[in-house]
Amino acid sequence: MDKARIAVLVSGGGTNLQALLDAQGDVITSGEITLVISNKAGAYALERARLAGVKGETVLRRECGSQEAFEDKVLSLLRENNIDMIVLAGFLSVLSERFVKEYPNRIINIHPSLIPKHCGDGFYGLKVHESVLAAGDKVTGATVHFVNEITDGGEIIFQQEVPVMEGDTPEVLQKRVMEQAEWIILPKACEQVSKKIVEESK
Ligand code: GAR
Repeated sequence: MDKARIAVLVSGGGTNLQALLDAQGDVITSGEITLVISNKAGAYALERARLAGVKGETVLRRECGSQEAFEDKVLSLLRENNIDMIVLAGFLSVLSERFVKEYPNRIINIHPSLIPKHCGDGFYGLKVHESVLAAGDKVTGATVHFVNEITDGGEIIFQQEVPVMEGDTPEVLQKRVMEQAEWIILPKACEQVSKKIVEESK
């Protein structure tokens, strides 16, 4: 295999997806984003995929009837598209152990805090930054990690610290964490894992 085929799973605006698309051919040379799957209808991330010429699919849990049926649909799309690696980039649904075991060490997630702080069930999006500010932390950041059966519990690949400033709102802090950490370490981690997949295929 020349390049690992990457699927990016999203739920919202997709700025992390954009960082990955922009890093292709630069930071990311061992992988290619070939599929974007959203679990929210009309997510702007799908528009970003379309503009980049990447296939986009929407799978809605409520239309599938159960989490199991939802995951089966996602798994069948991944198989149909010969996906080697999955990136959760602002994907706000927790995947089951059964799903995760289909792609051992091949699913990575970006989380907007320094794990083990401010993570686990219920910590996503702005809630994470609200928690950091409520705790009075002076430093926060982002973490890219492998996904296993424990929410935000898999092996850490990269972490990047970001300062918390006097007067920060959750929105201001979220933006700083994205710009100074998430958009940098996610493409780097994506390349590291893709490269290993390509090497293992030889
Ligand atoms: C990002 O900050 C990402 O780290 C976070 O959601 C945001 C999605 O933004 N993910 C989590 O909180 C996962 N627990 P994006 O759609 O613009 O990439």
